[in-house]
Amino acid sequence: MKNFSKITLGALIIAAVSLTSCSNDDDNNTPAEKPTIYERLGGTTMVSDPDNSGQMIEKGRLSFRKVVNSTIGLIVADIQSNASGNLQAHFAPLLAETGNTQATNIAKLSDNLTDFFSFNTGGTNAVNTYSGLSMSAAHDPAKNPRMGTKSSNADYTKFEGYVGAAANANGVASNTELYTDIVAVLESLRTPIVQK
Ligand code: HEM
Repeated sequence: MKNFSKITLGALIIAAVSLTSCSNDDDNNTPAEKPTIYERLGGTTMVSDPDNSGQMIEKGRLSFRKVVNSTIGLIVADIQSNASGNLQAHFAPLLAETGNTQATNIAKLSDNLTDFFSFNTGGTNAVNTYSGLSMSAAHDPAKNPRMGTKSSNADYTKFEGYVGAAANANGVASNTELYTDIVAVLESLRTPIVQK
């Protein structure tokens, strides 16, 4: 019995030592950190800006700008559809504007959304710095007069679907890890944005 205990103890010590050395090995073999979403969308590689001739833009930012502009296109179509449950009431202040004012404000919104997504997914260049309202203030009509009415969970799910469709249209397929990671970022914003 005594011997058995000794053997068991010895085996435990050996197991503990090998576990320790195993975990050291693991430390040495730690896989490289997963690239950020911004990096996976093209990162800081400079490419010519298709919308501003003679200018260069980071590929990550360009990818987000394309997704944002496609999303805005889908929201405009939603509003114009006049279908029940459309997002018209939320964007009423923007829709009430005319001519240059409206065009300027939509361009500003596109820019702010591009900054927001770039900045929060790993874009570190100063051009991506987001200087707009917090997500809770931006979506509270009492704090942001440009927000027509508060949004519900259903509005949010619809909006998120438009961002997903816009990502699909710009080369991010739904069955990819990149798409799943983008949806996870969007889901993390549901709580501050949904206020109804
Ligand atoms: C993925 C979720 C969303 C994100 C990341 C997002 C992001 C933003 C950002 C960054 C702004 C600009 C804030 C500023 O300029 O200070 C904004 C404004 C706004 N958002 Fe959202 N939003 C989301 C969902 C929604 C939803 C679900 C609605 C309504 C259905 C909505 C309606 C608006 C409106 C009406 C504005 C003000 C427009 C303007 O100032 O021109 N957003 N949002």
